[in-house]
Amino acid sequence: MKSQTDVVIRPARNVQGSVTLPGDKSISHRYAMLSAIAEGKSTIENYSTGADCQSTLGCMRSLGGKWERKESGMIEVEGSGPQLAAPMESLDCGNSGSTIRMLSGILAGQEFVSEMHGDESLSRRPMERVMAPLRLMGARIEAKNGRPPLKIQGAKLRGIEYKVPVASAQVKTCLLFAGLLAEGETVIEEPVRTRDHGEVALRAFGAEVVRKGNVSRIRGQQKLHGIQARVPGDLSSAAFFLCAAGLFPGSRLTLPHLLMNPTRARLLDVLVQMGLKIQVIELEEVNGEMVGTIEAEGGRLRGAEISGADSAALIDEIPVLAAIAAYSENGLDVRDAKELRVKESDRIAAIASNLRRMGAEVEEREDGLRVPGNQRLHGAEIESFGDHRIAMAFAIAALRAEGETLIHSAEAASISYPAFFSTLQELIQS
Ligand code: S3P
Repeated sequence: MKSQTDVVIRPARNVQGSVTLPGDKSISHRYAMLSAIAEGKSTIENYSTGADCQSTLGCMRSLGGKWERKESGMIEVEGSGPQLAAPMESLDCGNSGSTIRMLSGILAGQEFVSEMHGDESLSRRPMERVMAPLRLMGARIEAKNGRPPLKIQGAKLRGIEYKVPVASAQVKTCLLFAGLLAEGETVIEEPVRTRDHGEVALRAFGAEVVRKGNVSRIRGQQKLHGIQARVPGDLSSAAFFLCAAGLFPGSRLTLPHLLMNPTRARLLDVLVQMGLKIQVIELEEVNGEMVGTIEAEGGRLRGAEISGADSAALIDEIPVLAAIAAYSENGLDVRDAKELRVKESDRIAAIASNLRRMGAEVEEREDGLRVPGNQRLHGAEIESFGDHRIAMAFAIAALRAEGETLIHSAEAASISYPAFFSTLQELIQS
């Protein structure tokens, strides 16, 4: 049965057109947080339209952050320096793991007690990964079995040297933000190199951050200044359309002003390996981030293998790559991606269950999955599990299925990309 929050997707012939993506979610969160603790005014154009990034803005306002949305959609922030105001009530982080984890680094260095909570999904997600190092830096943090809500008693932090046990850019960024407020130097070593938007954003706001291999260091108590920024288009949102193009020879897409940061762009290598023709034109650097225009053309869809450091680099795109893999020649093999089990949903289970609903064969493993290629899928009732990337991934798989697909709770897409379904409809040629 179809309800108001369900979306029907019909088979397509191919996808064509030009899409300017809303601002990257990872960068938007970081700019919203750093502009509030910088000195002076910042302007942020093309801020992410996703609900997660609005959660961050809401939290910053509750912490005394002064920001305003201008007519053009631009956000203007009047920074107040590193000391924020004590919030009157618990900060609502909604569905956003980035908000609660990265902001905890800033709250750990404040002179007040604060609390953060989130929705049902966020309340199940592990926070020990930020709590343990923040405690070593001097903050007191309480949680329920290592899960939200979090209660943070801020302190005068001291820099630490810390080996992060899980590959997580959210954890690294949390510690860089705490390190900025701490006395002395903070040195963070990660098991594999994760996205570096924390480092790049801190530098854009005027801080010195040194990165060598998998080690990032920041000297404490550096001053930040406001910036003028335009957030590049979200590459993880673009992934859905690029995968849609990959499904059909004859697809042609242009994606202007897209994020091309090398720590995120592994996706493009994999898509090329899978048969998509991609050209990057007009490459430039904006506030330390690489930005370019992509032209993509669909061809024969081959398979891929993702493991090791690639699994961390592609963590947000694996759902859609897996969703299209059944149509490819050789399928997809994903290993070392156990983190997918603790995202907004258990994404390994969600992908496997939805692929099976569409009639696909799939092998689920603890740390990944194998989707054999050359399969024919049929339309089905898909469950988003309240997870934005699952809802969008299966809307793409549905484009090449036989018959109609119903995506239940499709509104989850608005967590990162509210206009996703309307934009997809504009691109579809039937
Ligand atoms: C993000 C890092 C990743 C990613 C999330 C955004 C970031 O999470 O899945 O969507 O902006 O740093 P982890 O750090 O938990 O891997």
